[in-house]
Amino acid sequence: MDFLELASARYSCRHYLDASVEDELLSKVLEAGRIAPTAKNNQPQRVVVVQSKEALARLHEATPMARNAPVVLAVGYAPSEASVIAMDSYYDGTYCAGTQDASIVATSMMYEAAELGLGSLWIRGYDTGKVREALDLGDDFELVMLLAIGHPDEEYGPSPMHESRKALDETVMYL
Ligand SMILES: Cc1cc2nc3c(=O)[nH]c(=O)nc-3n(C[C@H](O)[C@H](O)[C@H](O)COP(=O)(O)O)c2cc1C
Repeated sequence: MDFLELASARYSCRHYLDASVEDELLSKVLEAGRIAPTAKNNQPQRVVVVQSKEALARLHEATPMARNAPVVLAVGYAPSEASVIAMDSYYDGTYCAGTQDASIVATSMMYEAAELGLGSLWIRGYDTGKVREALDLGDDFELVMLLAIGHPDEEYGPSPMHESRKALDETVMYL
């Protein structure tokens, strides 16, 4: 499968089989995040692997979004390590690249999961304070998103939203 085929086949998976993610597959997903590019190569990303029954139960108390995924990756960055672009006149100050770093790490893991035949779901519809507390994230951890991962229950497949994409000329401009 070439990359465009993979990107087209990936969809937001909201129903998972009652099966754990094999350690070997999880390691590959995490490796894809490890080698992702980051600003100035600072590698400020932080990934918390939520997979124990206890931790998943605490997460489910905080948000229903992770559904029945057997693994949820809480992806963020350490502000103390993130690259800060100083004196950005547009932003009237500084600009921190941490969110972009965490996002490309998460994106890389999402597509690696797809390549391995795993389903995944990018989640941001949660209350940050509740999830931070449930996962006991420390001070130097800015949470960016949750990535649910698991073997997809193929009975469900993608939601109708998956098929809906704007035409290129609605989102791309040429100068
Ligand atoms: C930044 C971001 C936040 C998202 N947050 C959620 C979420 O909280 N819950 C959810 O079910 N899906 C969430 N999604 C998944 C999107 O709804 C989904 O990607 C979009 O509808 C397109 O569908 P597809 O991924 O199946 O192609 C999020 C996706 C992104 C990129």
